[in-house]
Amino acid sequence: MKFGFFDDANREYVITTPRTPYPWINYLGTQGFFSLISNTAGGYSFYKDARLRRITRYRYNNVPIDMGGRYFYINDNGTIWNPGWSPVKTELDEYECRHGMGYTKITGKKNDLKVNVTFFVPQDYDGEVQQVVLTNEGSSEKTFSLFSFAEWCLWDAQDDSNNFQRNFSTGRVEVDGSVLYHKTEYRDRRDHFAFYSVNDTIDGYDTDRDSFIGLYNGFNNPEAVLAGKATNSFADGWAPIASHYKKITLKPGEVKTLVFILGYVEMPVDQKFEADGKTINKVKAKAMIDKYSTPEKFEAGMKELKAYWDKLLGIFTVTTPDDKVDRMVNIWNQYQCMVTFNLSRSASYFESGIGRGMGFRDSNQDVLGFVHQIPDRAKERIIDIASTQFPDGGCYHQYQPLTKKGNSDIGGDFSDDPLWLILSVSAYIKETGDWGLLDEMIPYDNDMSIAQPMLEHLKVSFYHIVNNLGPHGLPLAMRADWNDCINLSCYSDTPGESFQTYTNPKFAAEGGYSKIAESVMVATLFTYAGPNYVEILKHLGKDDEAAKAQAEIDKMKKNIMESAWDGDWFLRAYDANGEKMGSKECEEGKIFIEPQGFAIMSDVGKDQGADLKTLAAIDERLNTKYGLVLNNPAYTKYYIQYGEISTYPGGYKENAGIFTHNNAWIICAAAYAGQGDQAFKYYSEIAPAFTEETSDIHKTEPYVYGQMIGGKDAGSDIGQTGKNFGQGKNSWLTGTAAWNMVAISQYILGVQPDFDGLKVDPSIPHEWDGFTATRQFRGANYNITVKNPNHVCKGVKSLEVNGKAIDGCVIPYEAGTKEFNVVVTLG
Ligand code: BGC
Ligand code: NOJ
Repeated sequence: MKFGFFDDANREYVITTPRTPYPWINYLGTQGFFSLISNTAGGYSFYKDARLRRITRYRYNNVPIDMGGRYFYINDNGTIWNPGWSPVKTELDEYECRHGMGYTKITGKKNDLKVNVTFFVPQDYDGEVQQVVLTNEGSSEKTFSLFSFAEWCLWDAQDDSNNFQRNFSTGRVEVDGSVLYHKTEYRDRRDHFAFYSVNDTIDGYDTDRDSFIGLYNGFNNPEAVLAGKATNSFADGWAPIASHYKKITLKPGEVKTLVFILGYVEMPVDQKFEADGKTINKVKAKAMIDKYSTPEKFEAGMKELKAYWDKLLGIFTVTTPDDKVDRMVNIWNQYQCMVTFNLSRSASYFESGIGRGMGFRDSNQDVLGFVHQIPDRAKERIIDIASTQFPDGGCYHQYQPLTKKGNSDIGGDFSDDPLWLILSVSAYIKETGDWGLLDEMIPYDNDMSIAQPMLEHLKVSFYHIVNNLGPHGLPLAMRADWNDCINLSCYSDTPGESFQTYTNPKFAAEGGYSKIAESVMVATLFTYAGPNYVEILKHLGKDDEAAKAQAEIDKMKKNIMESAWDGDWFLRAYDANGEKMGSKECEEGKIFIEPQGFAIMSDVGKDQGADLKTLAAIDERLNTKYGLVLNNPAYTKYYIQYGEISTYPGGYKENAGIFTHNNAWIICAAAYAGQGDQAFKYYSEIAPAFTEETSDIHKTEPYVYGQMIGGKDAGSDIGQTGKNFGQGKNSWLTGTAAWNMVAISQYILGVQPDFDGLKVDPSIPHEWDGFTATRQFRGANYNITVKNPNHVCKGVKSLEVNGKAIDGCVIPYEAGTKEFNVVVTLG
């Protein structure tokens, strides 16, 4: 069942009922000010840091769901309603929500009154602008009252949700005409305030929540709205809010447009107040309000936003025989990659904005998805990440976005982390040809006095693996690898002990983790990422070092085949007892997804047919109609030696859930191995546009990836196998965005930046006649036509560039050439 449709021409998803199976959200803002907004206008805003500068309040895990947002209420002669349906939930005569690129438009109509609200955060602007257009579509005059509503958060979202003994006495506001100011703590420690304005006179306001809503009422029936009149309340502690009240009369056909602004302002400490030392200095706020004070200015801001997205989404476009592929690649997947760049894993409807900093591995992988759109900011990000690395190549697992320092609560020793840096740096160089990044001096642990060139960071990353091998010559698993929930050293049976950071006394003397447990996934990630380091060395003429590194990769491949090949697929790990994990010999969890794709893509055991055997096993044991499960069979018992993974009921999360992130690795691997049909099958099982038809089952947004989909074993332990099979969770902030962008664009469509130029080597469904793509790459335009006359999946028969035949499939980069017309014929 669908709950809307894609409007590709406008790059929008149009939601046609407010009762979506879960709130379907969008993100506004790309720089400092961000808002989350659902299809019923729930959500919240923050400035830069979702925990420390939370501007409006939101209630996670609330009943009913999605409570708190920016609401407009109408009281039309006793009929109370919201254009976004919620929170009053009066049945509307018409409803529509359009989530677009950085804006959301919500329209509701009731009793001939149509209210359309457009929300967006302009470029270079610290505020959310809301244009409300009210139209009387009836044949008689209408008089009604309009109320706006926003509830302030007292800045630190964590403190705001638990420190009530203090918070109920600190709230401070100021009212100046139609502008309602939130200045809690502005007198003392803060130099920032927020405001909510409207570009018209008002007939009243409320700034105190209990006066507006009533202590025993809810968002769905605020007393002031029921009464049809504001109370002009002035908050003094308790819960400060901002609500404008305006009486409006519209003749038949008449339209009224209002512009509201929810803004954030920082002031230099010596200019915080007017001469009286109490009143807010409003110079900056007034300038902000003036900037979008009319519908014309509003339109100009929207145009600028559109131009911004036109530019970003114009860098890579495709036209394929499948419009679902086109809308994923041209619009939504690229959009989601930018959102993960901006938000990392901080704030979504599943991430509360107070918990997690930037992940070392997450942020490196995100780069793969957005580097072509904003290479300069990708470079900045890579440098920030690398600056938190330790001199021995180990890494802080997370760092804080505001300080950019490693987070010592979590610490390091996640075995996969260093390898992702090799991949992100390589992706940046392949995209830009900017080898200079390798010479930049980058600190270790943020200490500039021990800085080394980026190349050295790659070296220590590479050798961090080589220097930390276990008994089979495979990388030590340490606290965890990519799978945070396989904790072969941090296992425990005591509630409250963190699986990832707890030091098992057994291993304390050995440095905190087992010197026996090994990760095959890290081994194959090493053989996949490592060759990039070798190529970089060769390019720099460091042939000896390159040969030395290559020898390590070859040795690892040998070790994998000797000790980690299970006959039909690769093992997952050796646990701290030296026992196999992810083997036919295991009772449960016989096969895992993570090591397989990287092994195939780095030709481990290819001469023995390991690649095709592995792909066959994956298809047989892991594939389902909703994607590939992470492991099979699911664990039904708690295996203490594995840590968190088997704490999840089977079918969820890392215990046999469909973890979409690593589905991409198999899509890439199948494409790499020439199985274009298989690759596309797996892609279409999880790509959101393809799951749109089953939105009722999938639940989360049909335009973005979520981290996890319930696997085939979901519900099995309660005798209801398949109960939540296909049900998505944790949408938006996931590495799946970047990896599936890589899978579809670089592996299936095969448009892949390489060190020496752009490579085109597709692996597509055989029935496709071909496709076209445009790609801006290192300052030139590539117009690519792929023809598939013989209906093969893979294999470049000929490649022509500007009319000239070229050998191989890499288009040599020529500085100065601005247009490359590329014709690729498969066969
Ligand atoms: C989750 C992982 C997540 C980790 C860190 C685990 O409990 O299952 O998906 O990456 O916590 O927050
Ligand atoms: C989510 C985390 O953000 C990511 O780093 C991790 O790899 C996966 N969970 C798998 O555990």
